[in-house]
Amino acid sequence: MKLCCYLKNKEIYKTKKQNSNRFYQQKSINVVKYNMVYIKNKIYIERGYMKYTHNNNELNLSNVGENVSLKGWVNKQRDLGSLIFIDLRDRFGITQIVVKSDSPYFEEASTLKSEYVINVVGVVAKKDTPNPKLLTGEIEVILTCLEVLNTSLTPPFVLSDDTSASEDTRLKYRYLDLRRTKQASYLISRNTISQSIRKTLLKEGFYELDTPILARSTPEGARDFLVPSRLYPGEFFALPQSPQLFKQLYMISGLEKYFQMARCFRDEDLRADRQLEFTQVDIEMSFINEKDIQKLVEKIFKNLFKDYYNVNLKTPFIRMQYDKCIKDYGSDKPDTRYELLLQDYKQFLPYLPFLKGKCLRGIIFNNSSAITRKEIDEYARIIKQNHGETLLYIKKQDNQISSSINKYINEDFLSKLDFLNDNEILFLVSGTFYDSSVALGALRKRLAEQFSLYDPNRFDFLWVVNWPLLEFDKETKTYAAMHHPFTAATNYDVLRKNPAKARALAYDIVLNGYEVGGGSIRIHNQENQQLLFETINLTKEQISQKFGFFVEALKYGTPPHGGLALGLDRIVMLLTNTSNIKDVIAFPKTQSARDLMVDSPNTVDSSQLDEAHLIIKK
Ligand code: AMO
Repeated sequence: MKLCCYLKNKEIYKTKKQNSNRFYQQKSINVVKYNMVYIKNKIYIERGYMKYTHNNNELNLSNVGENVSLKGWVNKQRDLGSLIFIDLRDRFGITQIVVKSDSPYFEEASTLKSEYVINVVGVVAKKDTPNPKLLTGEIEVILTCLEVLNTSLTPPFVLSDDTSASEDTRLKYRYLDLRRTKQASYLISRNTISQSIRKTLLKEGFYELDTPILARSTPEGARDFLVPSRLYPGEFFALPQSPQLFKQLYMISGLEKYFQMARCFRDEDLRADRQLEFTQVDIEMSFINEKDIQKLVEKIFKNLFKDYYNVNLKTPFIRMQYDKCIKDYGSDKPDTRYELLLQDYKQFLPYLPFLKGKCLRGIIFNNSSAITRKEIDEYARIIKQNHGETLLYIKKQDNQISSSINKYINEDFLSKLDFLNDNEILFLVSGTFYDSSVALGALRKRLAEQFSLYDPNRFDFLWVVNWPLLEFDKETKTYAAMHHPFTAATNYDVLRKNPAKARALAYDIVLNGYEVGGGSIRIHNQENQQLLFETINLTKEQISQKFGFFVEALKYGTPPHGGLALGLDRIVMLLTNTSNIKDVIAFPKTQSARDLMVDSPNTVDSSQLDEAHLIIKK
């Protein structure tokens, strides 16, 4: 055995007990007191534990000839008869290990299977044919010692980056899925991103403070998750949809710069960028205005882009009025990486009989020949899903007009269409200004995705400002807060006299068409808070029942304050270039709101139901 083992102090002991570990017995390595071995004064071995010298991404030609020790999982084992190759994997990468037929470990190496956990000692050698796909592709390690730390069942799917396993299978065995380099890399990026954000906030003098999880309902627009109380029959805690009221209470307490990586819980329908349980970077400050918060957030992103991409992000970000977002982009979170702007077309086609009292909004796409009839049907479905009326189109191809409103085509009509160039298609939707715009905004997004109208490596940030304070529900004929009911108005006289016109001191931050954060200046005076509650039709009893503690707190010298929450999961999702929020959450729920790994939600024993004073409705 060529293994180069010698002792730090040149003293050699026999193992105190003749231990059963074959590693020591068979190879008669010099074993010192307490089962320690030094290899070139570097490697330290204890039973079942070998301190490794390198990670599996580290070795290169400069290490040739060195004795090294590595650990990890068997990614792949190939037995060529006279040689065995092992791809040894850890979270950093892969190193190729070679076991020669004259090795005392050859037989044991031939029994290795995927996902066995092993320790390896060996000598680094230059590889005859380098593997350009591996960071360690120029070398291989000729095995001199092998220790099997654990065996493994055959995994239910191949743990490679290009696995064809279904998402459900991967989520059921998420702990295996996370062994895939790509999947682990999302979480490693998540760590880099959250550490960078935390670093900036701590540097800016913020306190990292937490807030209760067993709380009471906060109105963020979703359903609450309720937790029954064992001690108080019929009473419930609610999991926080956000720590909104607690962070305002911190301001009332005088802890004027707060932040938290806060877990939030919202019982809402899941989408590609939404989970039931997600993480916000929750921030609140006192004695500030909206510009101070926006500046802080710009600093957070500037430092983050430096830490993550080593690029200098241009700040300040664009500020776009909410009304302009709807008018030009049909969205309150516009993706500004591509044009395809919405316009009014009623002035060109005023005689369309179904337009009475309605708007006619549209977008022109400049490659009509790329769009099939079937795709137009699909677009019409998107418009409907987004509460738009029938999708109309007019296209010009080889200077011929064809359209879904052929019966209205006459000379006069054609003479108005000179704004349409050859091979362009005009999509039109009628309805209220808001509904037709938002429906077209969804089509705009679809066209951009389908025809890759944007540079995926570009990052467009913008602030959406000057939001309406309230939205009117036509069915219940009541107003509701557009953000949450603690958002300050720009003018309380307007709120009193004409609530529909009231504007909010609110701001959302948008990145590439995703809302990655939202916040506002808060109402800090009890009368204004009361006015807002009354405007959204809360009775005195409701106010006292829901927010009595908070209204009371506002009376005790509340400082002017404001804040914002960044959606950490969405930020990680965008920076790691995935469109699926589940990728960046270690143990996410499926689209149908289940955890397949722990199999929840699940039924509980009747004794637990009894303790919680619950009866399941049949
Ligand atoms: P808001 O409801 O806008 O504001 O939430 C802030 C940010 O959190 C992210 N987010 C989500 N991410 C994943 N899954 C979800 N279901 C989900 N819901 C929201 C978004 C969003 O921009 N209390 C206020 C903040 C404040 O006013 O300070 C709030 O929670 O990126």
